[in-house]
Amino acid sequence: MSLVDAVTEAFAELAGRPPEGVWRAPGRVNLIGEHTDYNDGFVLPVAINRSVVVAAARRDDGVLRCWSSRDRSEPVSHPVAEVGPGTSSGWSAYVEGTAWALRELGVPVPGADVVVHADLPAGAGLSSSAALEAAVALALSDLAGSTVDRVALALAGQRAETEVVGMPCGIMDQMAVLLGRAGHAVFLDTRTRMTELVPFDPAAAGLTLLVIDTRVKHALVGSPYAERRRACERAAAALGVPALRDATIDDLEAGRASGALDEVTFRRARHVVTENDRVLEAVDLLRRGALTSIGPALAGSHRSLRDDYEVSCPELDVAVDAAVTGGAVGARMTGGGFGGSALALTPVDAVDRVTETVTKAFAEAGFGPPAVFAVSIAGGAERVSG
Ligand code: GLA
Repeated sequence: MSLVDAVTEAFAELAGRPPEGVWRAPGRVNLIGEHTDYNDGFVLPVAINRSVVVAAARRDDGVLRCWSSRDRSEPVSHPVAEVGPGTSSGWSAYVEGTAWALRELGVPVPGADVVVHADLPAGAGLSSSAALEAAVALALSDLAGSTVDRVALALAGQRAETEVVGMPCGIMDQMAVLLGRAGHAVFLDTRTRMTELVPFDPAAAGLTLLVIDTRVKHALVGSPYAERRRACERAAAALGVPALRDATIDDLEAGRASGALDEVTFRRARHVVTENDRVLEAVDLLRRGALTSIGPALAGSHRSLRDDYEVSCPELDVAVDAAVTGGAVGARMTGGGFGGSALALTPVDAVDRVTETVTKAFAEAGFGPPAVFAVSIAGGAERVSG
């Protein structure tokens, strides 16, 4: 059964009436540009063909009720005027937080029944949170008859996540899932929010984009993510720049020599500064259609995240090394890290070998089996029925 049929059926069963519409938002794989988005830097994500779908219909009593198709027990139910920071928790905080952030924008969010369903694994580093926020943001603004632009919807999702869920994320994921386009990567300057859709068609280059889900669950709320972010802010302040986007390697070296940056802060900052360069390099290669040449940039990104930023984990390192041994032209961890997924850009005829090599390496290391699957580059969030 399709995702849309499944969520429509679940809605009828749980809410006892048909939905007014169904909205879909994709997950994302970030090709390169990790932990740069809260430093005013560059990122290059793609939206993928794994999604969160939301079926919804208005209620006239101002109550927001939400169900997950996985857990068909009682809905989480609160007056929409009362949801927001400090009042929402658990998975429904993403839904209620988004409703709150839209209201803060002046969108007259109505009461609604909302049912959530997905084929995008949660906690796998593929932005299931941003996908849920984006699908809900589109659904509720449509039901409110409002036409908020996509950048504003992305910012509302980020605000929900930061202020209601408690994860101080950047803007990459929300922008990727709202602005992605099939066959393209989203080159985003997180300072200006300028985006450029850069052609990214692995199949045309004889490649497949593989995701290796380590199945190590990362919980970025309350994780070292916030600590990394603070280290970057400390480094920028010590160097007297608005954000690490504005620093050069020479600035960092000078800061280390003068004692303004301690060794760890220096390495955190070096990751960000070198990663921004690698994004620009990858964008340049993609613009020239040289997809198969981005391997070294991907490898450099992974090394930097592992050694300087220290957000990888043994499972991600094994996944990346084994993918390259199996024949991938490039591989690296993708997303926040501390578990989650790696990407492996793989020649079509090496897909089986990469999958086997990774699976075997996990078994030999004593890790649980990973999930290895191909993804295609999909479009951004949209209304899919109703
Ligand atoms: C998470 C955050 C993003 C970004 C990445 C790391 O996915 O939600 O904003 O910071 O980590 O690049």
